[in-house]
Amino acid sequence: VKLAVLLSGGGTNLQAVLDQIDQGALSAEVVLIASNKEGAYGLTRGGQRGIPTAVFQRQSFPSKDQRDRELLRALKSSGADLVVLAGYLGQIPGFIIEAYPNQIINIHPSLLPCFGGKGYYGEKVHQGVYNRGMKVTGATVHFVSEETDGGPIILQEAVGIDFEDGVSDIQQKVLTLEHRLLPEAIELIAEGRVEVIGNRVKIRER
Ligand code: GRF
Repeated sequence: VKLAVLLSGGGTNLQAVLDQIDQGALSAEVVLIASNKEGAYGLTRGGQRGIPTAVFQRQSFPSKDQRDRELLRALKSSGADLVVLAGYLGQIPGFIIEAYPNQIINIHPSLLPCFGGKGYYGEKVHQGVYNRGMKVTGATVHFVSEETDGGPIILQEAVGIDFEDGVSDIQQKVLTLEHRLLPEAIELIAEGRVEVIGNRVKIRER
């Protein structure tokens, strides 16, 4: 499966995918890394391996719509058949979702629908989990729909929170989990074992 990875930050999730590919644990190829942030370190992670990268900064375009049309053009010409949002802090417009039906996935650092949706991204998620005194949190991989963090859930896994855990400890526990969950979801899709039925997902046995 050919992956286009969209990111805005450090790209440790991208790195986890690249590592799994290198270890032969993931039958995939990253054909494009795109960011809406010039200088996102995730771009560097790909550049070092000769993976094509592209930047689509909002301010470089007359409108968000035109930025997104350029992004779609790049996705199409990359030949990607799965778009992976790995810390991409941008809204994917409907016309891109329609171009890739059930072919865009996102990883979110909580057990959706808890602490998901607009306003909950990055550290804000873990701060919310901490403030609520939750005893478990986790990560979710889901298909992207027009509702932020609202698409059919592919995989979720929980992790325990100790009283001593601060926000950064929670963030680190979840990130470690994400680095396993995202490649696992991509592998399931690559094996054709993921079926969307309504707003639910069935994972077929091997
Ligand atoms: C991850 O926590 C991911 O769940 C969220 O943004 C963060 C990206 O981290 N969407 P990285 O850039 O992959 O290190």
